[in-house]
Amino acid sequence: MADIVPEILISQEQIDSKVAELAARISADYAGVDDLIMVGILKGSFIFLADLSRALDIPRSVDFMALSTYGDSESTETDGAVRMIMDLRRNITGKHVLVVEDIVDTGHTLSYLLRNLAARRPASLKTCVLVEKPDRREVYTQIDYLGFSIPDVWVVGCGLDWAERYRTLPYIGVVHPEQNG
Ligand code: PRP
Repeated sequence: MADIVPEILISQEQIDSKVAELAARISADYAGVDDLIMVGILKGSFIFLADLSRALDIPRSVDFMALSTYGDSESTETDGAVRMIMDLRRNITGKHVLVVEDIVDTGHTLSYLLRNLAARRPASLKTCVLVEKPDRREVYTQIDYLGFSIPDVWVVGCGLDWAERYRTLPYIGVVHPEQNG
C-alpha cells in the first residue's frame, strides 16, 4: 500500500534552523565540559539526535535507551505504562547527561526516565525535546531545550512514526489515523 503524503506542520527548513539554534545554546551552556553524554531514546530520537549531535562544537558522545509506552499496536492512546527495553551501555555517575527525545506527549516517558537516570547520580541531567504537545500533558516534565510546541495532532517524520511508518520523512507532518489505515 502506498503511503499518503502527510501535510507539512513544521518544514525541513524550520527544523534545520531550530537544530542549529539549540546546538548553539547547548554548546555554549556546556562549554568546558569534557564529555557530554547525549542519551537518545529509541526509536524516535535517532534522527534528531544525529542532527543535533553533529551540530555541536563541544566534546560529546552518544548512548541509547529504549523505552516504550505505545507498544507495537496501531493504537494512538497510551495508558502511561512505561517499559524499559534496553538500558545504557555507559555508567553515567558523575557525568553530564543530556536526554534527547523526539516528542513529549503525556510526559510519562520522560518523567520515568528522569527518575531512573537521576538515581544514577549524574553530575547534571537535562533534557532536549524536538516537539511537545502541551494539551496532552498528564505529568510535569522538565524540558530544558525545546524545539516546538504543537497542537494535539498526530505527527510523523524526523523520527516520529505512525505504526512504524513515516519515521524518515524530512519534515514534521500531520496524519489522520482514522483516514489513514
Ligand atoms: C514516543 C516518544 C516518546 C514517548 C512520549 O515513543 O518517542 O518516547 O512516546 O510519550 P509520552 O510523553 O506520552 O510518554 P514510543 O513509545 O512511540 O516509541 P518509539 O520512539 O519507538 O516510536
